[in-house]
Amino acid sequence: MSKAPKSTAFPHRHLLGIEGLSPDEISLLLDRSEKYVEQNRKADKKQATLRGRTIINLFFEPSTRTQTSFELAGKRLGADVINMSVATSSVRKGETLIDTAMTLNAMHPDVLAVRHPDSGAIKLLSDKVNCAVINGGDGTHEHPTQALLDALTIRRRKGRLEGLLVAICGDVLHSRVARSNIHLLNTMGARVRVIAPRTLVPSSIERLGVEVFHDMRAGLQDCDIVMMLRLQSERMQGNFFPSVREYFHFFGLDYEKLAAAKPDALIMHPGPMNRGVEIDSLVADDFGRSVIREQVEIGVAVRMAVLEILSANIPPPADRNL
Ligand code: CP
Repeated sequence: MSKAPKSTAFPHRHLLGIEGLSPDEISLLLDRSEKYVEQNRKADKKQATLRGRTIINLFFEPSTRTQTSFELAGKRLGADVINMSVATSSVRKGETLIDTAMTLNAMHPDVLAVRHPDSGAIKLLSDKVNCAVINGGDGTHEHPTQALLDALTIRRRKGRLEGLLVAICGDVLHSRVARSNIHLLNTMGARVRVIAPRTLVPSSIERLGVEVFHDMRAGLQDCDIVMMLRLQSERMQGNFFPSVREYFHFFGLDYEKLAAAKPDALIMHPGPMNRGVEIDSLVADDFGRSVIREQVEIGVAVRMAVLEILSANIPPPADRNL
């Protein structure tokens, strides 16, 4: 057993997903993130909360937003942050994920932020190390910090999550962002619709508590939030739609389809965007309604909050099991 007292408000060692978190735990993470949004807008963004702590970013898939914001988040909190370059590591010589994780764990990091192409791989890794593990995206399973930053972006703009009608549109089948958002939004009392071609919706997704639409205009009717998803061609084997041109025609967000949503509906996208595929550039860059840049800004604050809260639950290496 760990000797350090865990936070009673957030009694978890890891953040592996949104599924299973309570409304109070999600609210705690969002509330704590709020203060970092303000701090990150100041000239002096640095504090010493995590001084002496070590964070390792271990990304087995490409990333711009998530990896950079974990690095910034750790550094702004005063931690030492290492970005392990998987491409030039011993992974290239055949070292397994678990051996890599246990090797890094022997250097006594406090937090590993991990991205991996296989769903469930990060949970497996978390069972083998004695530090905190944050899921930075595992396969098509979950991307919890993305859902938290999306939720905070919405809450700051709309003042609440409860009762909002949110449409998640596009490649739901391959999207960990969609899954984490569905769990979070349902837990916080929002209503969720998914809108996608039949080929890009997982079977039985209704069991997660969403309404399914295959027509953008019908699905976007009266929505408060329009969350577009990237078409993840790197995860596709075979043809899921006839052509990119046809996909954009039926499912790409343009002003004509957006007109079905509420006039003040927010436009969101986790990034990276395929402009002209799932979203028209004019809509993406309409900064009166698009909060895509804001999502990125808030991502740093959310990752600071997650690092702070999980680090408080991690005892010094000498007091850890394993
Ligand atoms: N939204 C997101 O996860 O972006 P990156 O792949 O750039 O981290």
